[in-house]
Amino acid sequence: MSEQILLSADKVTKSFPLGNRKRHIAVNNVSLEMYRGETLALVGESGCGKSTLAKLLMRLTDADSGRVFFDGTDISALSGRALRPYRRKMQMVFQDPASSLNPRMNIRDIIAEPLEVWHICKSRKETDERVKELLDLVELKESYLSRFPHQFSGGQKQRIGIARALALNPDLLVCDESVSALDVSVQAQILNLLKRLKKDLGLSCLFISHDLSVVNFIADRVCVMRAGEICETGDVSAIYSSPTHDYTKYLLSSIPRTRGMGNQVDPGDGVMGS
Ligand SMILES: Nc1ncnc2c1ncn2[C@@H]1O[C@H](COP(=O)(O)OP(=O)(O)O)[C@@H](O)[C@H]1O
Ligand SMILES: [Mg+2]
Repeated sequence: MSEQILLSADKVTKSFPLGNRKRHIAVNNVSLEMYRGETLALVGESGCGKSTLAKLLMRLTDADSGRVFFDGTDISALSGRALRPYRRKMQMVFQDPASSLNPRMNIRDIIAEPLEVWHICKSRKETDERVKELLDLVELKESYLSRFPHQFSGGQKQRIGIARALALNPDLLVCDESVSALDVSVQAQILNLLKRLKKDLGLSCLFISHDLSVVNFIADRVCVMRAGEICETGDVSAIYSSPTHDYTKYLLSSIPRTRGMGNQVDPGDGVMGS
């Protein structure tokens, strides 16, 4: 893996008003570095600030203080037109595949929308070709193009969400609890798909999850978050075999034994279109 830094945060803080003149600090003075081509996981309990940190990194929300660098540029200082090229380079796959797809649009139009908004293709024919290519990339059949989201399973909807996120050839894919709503066997298929895409497309992925078994399967490195702060960072194998922070030990010890660390995800054979 190249050691080129794609994304970094330098002491970012974000707070929200509590209504009584006090503020809740959701992300507290966080610094992190993400390398190009790696899958970095943000793991921690619900409410610890993972999604807020992801929004700060993608400039979907403004920090109270601190800076965010993408490919060497301080994007926290950019706005409007100057920020636009970076929006294209960072794409998100959401948690709930059902509500993240417009129920009134067919699959062709859902995947074509970013291509049209960004004027990527010269003609409708070229757009259609690219949509088919994207559908193939996420292992869905071409015959699905005219169908609507409600005609798909949860796993298929998430594949459509991934195809849409990949339409603009992003450098960074942010997956915020993207497999949490899926059955365990479907989770495995989507995780395998993400692994393959990372390898084939050289994608960098920020993978957010509260589930340490999933993180163990997909990530190269992990940042463990607790109460708005990163308490431990390291290679996934090192963190799982010898965690140093008490909170990481606590998180690891709280994985239900029946699911077993790292055993939960059976790579399976990625049934077509599941
Ligand atoms: N827009 C918001 N307004 C007020 N509080 C928020 C907002 N977004 C998040 N929070 C609070 O910030 C904390 C972190 O939230 P979040 O980043 O969503 O955590 P996670 O993704 O780890 O579950 C939570 O206490 C949450 O209630
Ligand atoms: Mg969240």
